[in-house]
Amino acid sequence: SKVQSIDDLLGGGFETQALVEVYGEFGSGKTQIGHQLAVNCTLPEEEGGLDGDVFYIDTEDTFRPERISQMARGHGLEPDYVLSRIHVARAYNSAHQMLLVDEIKRMSKNIDVKLVIVDSLTSHFRAEYVGRGMLVDRQQKLNKHLKELKQLSDVNNALVLVTNQVHARPDAMWGDPTKPIGGHIVGHASTFRLYLRKSKGGRRIARLIDSPNLPEGEAVFSVTAEGIRE
Ligand code: GTP
Ligand code: MG
Repeated sequence: SKVQSIDDLLGGGFETQALVEVYGEFGSGKTQIGHQLAVNCTLPEEEGGLDGDVFYIDTEDTFRPERISQMARGHGLEPDYVLSRIHVARAYNSAHQMLLVDEIKRMSKNIDVKLVIVDSLTSHFRAEYVGRGMLVDRQQKLNKHLKELKQLSDVNNALVLVTNQVHARPDAMWGDPTKPIGGHIVGHASTFRLYLRKSKGGRRIARLIDSPNLPEGEAVFSVTAEGIRE
């Protein structure tokens, strides 16, 4: 990507056959990172891309083709070409969201999928399974969904990127008072977690968490008109 610090943080860029969870509060840059990676995925391998197609599951109606066009131009790419390689589906509820994974599995027999994005992984689940009594059901469904996503990444040698909001920890007295929705289930299913937070002057900080083989560390980035930049 064009952000060397994030590539360094991830030991040379996002790897395939991995499930990455990007979590952080509203406006921290999760959707922008999703858009940028979608564009980067269509780049040729010599330019740091995966020369592959993207499936983008949009649960919050925040996918913006015009933003993809801006970012494509930021790379000197033809916007229509890039958009033709990004297959977007709106998920209307959590059951539909899970069904879309089956559909991607079917379609990936004919399409060289290298990146699957679920933005956001948890919003429908959170809205539909309300209250303590529903928590076990919710976690079971999320767990199944994540397993199917991980399988998709293994079979296609693709990267799966899911976004997640954070909520306030009522028990936090010191340290960061937030934690990702779904807690440990999502954490254990993911290969990497990137925690995004807002910083001074519109900058954003990405922190690598729980990586099996990379040291924890941080990278600073900005969201500019052309896309995610150092
Ligand atoms: P939620 O989905 O609400 O949890 O937030 P998010 O983490 O997905 O944040 P998102 O990526 O949507 O936005 C992060 C920031 O990117 C915004 O606060 C804006 O500052 C910036 N941003 C979003 N869209 C654009 C754009 O089209 N151009 C530029 N220059 N900046 C943008
Ligand atoms: Mg978002």
